[in-house]
Amino acid sequence: MKKTNTSIEKQIDAIISKMSLHEKIEMCHANSRMTSAGVPSQGIDELTMNDGPHGVREENLRHSWITQGRTDDFCTYLPTGSALAATWNRDMAYLHGSVLGEEARFRNKDVILGPGINIVRTPICGRNFEYMSEDPCHISELVVQSVKGIQDADTAACVKHFALNNQELDRSGVNVEVSDRALREIYLPAFKAAADADAYSFMGAYNIYKGQHCCHNKYLLNDILKDEWGWDGVVISDWAGTHDTEEAALYGLDIEMGTVVKDLIRYNEYFLGDPFEELCKTDEKYVKCLDDKVRRILRLMFKINKFSPDRKPGSFNTKEHQQSAYQIASEAMVLLKNDGILPLKKDVKKLLVVGDNAVTQHCHGGNSSAVKALYEITPLQGLINKYGKENIDFVKNISCRYDPIPTEYLDITELKAGCRAFVMECYDNTMFQGDPTVYYVDKVEAIHEGVARRFTGVITIPETGDYTFYVNADRGSKFIMNGEIVRLFTSANNGVPYIFTKHYEKGYRIKIRFDALTVGMSPVELLWTRDTSEMPVDDLLDKARAADAVIYCGGLNHTYDTESTDRPHMDLLGDQNELIPLLAKANPNTIVTITAGSPVTMPWLDEVKAVVWSWYSGMEGGNALADVISGNVCPSGKMPFTLPYKLEDCPAHRYGEYQATNCKYNEDIYVGYRGYEKDGIAPMFAFGYGLSYASFEYADLDVITNDDSIEVNFSISNTSDIDAKEVAQVYVGINGVEDRPLQELRGFEKVSIKGGETKRVSIVIKKDDLRVWNGGWTLINGSYTVYVAAASDDVRLKADILI
Ligand code: BGC
Repeated sequence: MKKTNTSIEKQIDAIISKMSLHEKIEMCHANSRMTSAGVPSQGIDELTMNDGPHGVREENLRHSWITQGRTDDFCTYLPTGSALAATWNRDMAYLHGSVLGEEARFRNKDVILGPGINIVRTPICGRNFEYMSEDPCHISELVVQSVKGIQDADTAACVKHFALNNQELDRSGVNVEVSDRALREIYLPAFKAAADADAYSFMGAYNIYKGQHCCHNKYLLNDILKDEWGWDGVVISDWAGTHDTEEAALYGLDIEMGTVVKDLIRYNEYFLGDPFEELCKTDEKYVKCLDDKVRRILRLMFKINKFSPDRKPGSFNTKEHQQSAYQIASEAMVLLKNDGILPLKKDVKKLLVVGDNAVTQHCHGGNSSAVKALYEITPLQGLINKYGKENIDFVKNISCRYDPIPTEYLDITELKAGCRAFVMECYDNTMFQGDPTVYYVDKVEAIHEGVARRFTGVITIPETGDYTFYVNADRGSKFIMNGEIVRLFTSANNGVPYIFTKHYEKGYRIKIRFDALTVGMSPVELLWTRDTSEMPVDDLLDKARAADAVIYCGGLNHTYDTESTDRPHMDLLGDQNELIPLLAKANPNTIVTITAGSPVTMPWLDEVKAVVWSWYSGMEGGNALADVISGNVCPSGKMPFTLPYKLEDCPAHRYGEYQATNCKYNEDIYVGYRGYEKDGIAPMFAFGYGLSYASFEYADLDVITNDDSIEVNFSISNTSDIDAKEVAQVYVGINGVEDRPLQELRGFEKVSIKGGETKRVSIVIKKDDLRVWNGGWTLINGSYTVYVAAASDDVRLKADILI
């Protein structure tokens, strides 16, 4: 239970005592896209929020997602959550948080909507790149520092999404069925750590648990978060995650955001607006809840020093922030394979760089986490900075990205201005009835008011070839080409985009009509990708043969690693799996870099010389990658999730369900490595795995058992002459007890060790952290094995202990 600051509580009492019922109500729901009301009569400004979680989102218009088009909101773009987790470095988490907190502060935001800490349960969850890890201990250690970093800057963290938001498939309709022990041992610990670290706010999740939406879920919010954990912060709904006034009033939601109402600016129509006010007039119990909500919001305002003249001013886009982005990125790179080719000599002369991801800037993608970055160094730019332009040849090859259909291929629709555009008719009802407001738009997306949009336009095919279309919208939407319904989005789609390929001749004309509904959670999108190979494969392979080395920059992009849809499979996009082996055959010195935030298959692994996992690594990512490739930086990242050979190996897919509507987490606590190990399924790369240019020896394990803790002491020697960092991991397993994982991560430390040096490492594990959920927390007495490991499948030392 937290200590109460009585002086602050008294001031809050005084404020509340002067507030009218209506003023209180106003504080509990949005008054714009990203703010909720303060108490104007008492000079208290509104509460300002912004995404999160790897940069402060650009300034949009007050009541919509349309950009203000400002020039002063280009921000520091940090590595995303999974990259941060790959550093296994608490200091990096603090740094990440402090950049976010300081930049949010400078931009006058009170709350930054992050970090995102849901467990990576399935490799294909669209938001894995925003989240951190498959292991609760790993996330807990990092989230505490990230929250501290944010809040030390007088900005509130908003830890999201509480809880069980582990897939985007049907994200607002799926009811998650999970055992109590998996909930307690796997899905909640990182949230508990954040609550204990006094994260000032939490965001509720979209999904349903025990039949109730998580944004007003009695069990999660009232019983666990607020009562059991004694947390005194603010629960903010996810945008449009609120569905019921009574539940929102009674079951723990404090601020309702983003609800879709008929006229977007009638915020009083929110569930916690007029309907809540009416309830408060009928029964005192609602007023009690209302007062509690207001108290929590005011408390948050006090905690971020909103009323203090000494509130920190924050800072924006400083050299230090850019340096922090670089530092985090350079510690995140994971060297997965190296047959001696890396580091690649700096005097290498003919380097061929291939692939879309060498030049793709990823900052703008991913949906709510998109960042308007001041700049983004791509891998190609980083390599040029390191090896010189004259030594690098680049071929982009096939585009793997879906882009809006360029307006140059559209007919002129706005005759007066001669403007090529789609016509967008916005309706305030889902039946497309009445008079719409008409706009001319250069791409298909849900902007401006209304719940239904009809897009029309005519495309003329520019070149003969294959065209792959990517269409998405909510259930009830219709996509029509030349009068034929190509896709009717039904509830079975559940947010999954419809992707189809057609061959067209140059000059063919397609009349598009897209009746797109935006009542639920799918984005409205019409994108395409074309076969745009710049050069025949044979010519590319000739170039590869002539080069000293080839660097293939592959992976995913935010068409796939994105909020609101999951990936359709675990494979790389486009023809990458065919092209990489050809390149490797043409040039044995082929290195692959993977830009991705969630697992991918690598059927060509044996054929290439090296693989570096380079993440969405922020504005300095390209420089960090080039520094690792060239050996300026010794790689020290390790995987925060298992990379299986195939999706079906993953426990969530083997035992559990992955589906819409109702999803049973039958794998129970055997999430990630716990599940692979249980069944002896060897992964392609294990959780915690990553190579270094240095080599390490572990020795002299000494485990001391104290009353409340165990101290795990051991030495690591850097047996190379390269200064390096090693992530040492401590796993613990209970012996002779049925139905428990072989081992579970209980501690880790990233240690800097100079070449030739030996360091003594001490990791202290609280005995409480060894408890299991058994209807309550229980410490099982008996024999345990302590494993000191370089990866979950690479145990270097072990000892048995009795507890
Ligand atoms: C996302 C949140 C985000 C919010 C506001 C939602 O769609 O799930 O993570 O903070 O939008 O942009």
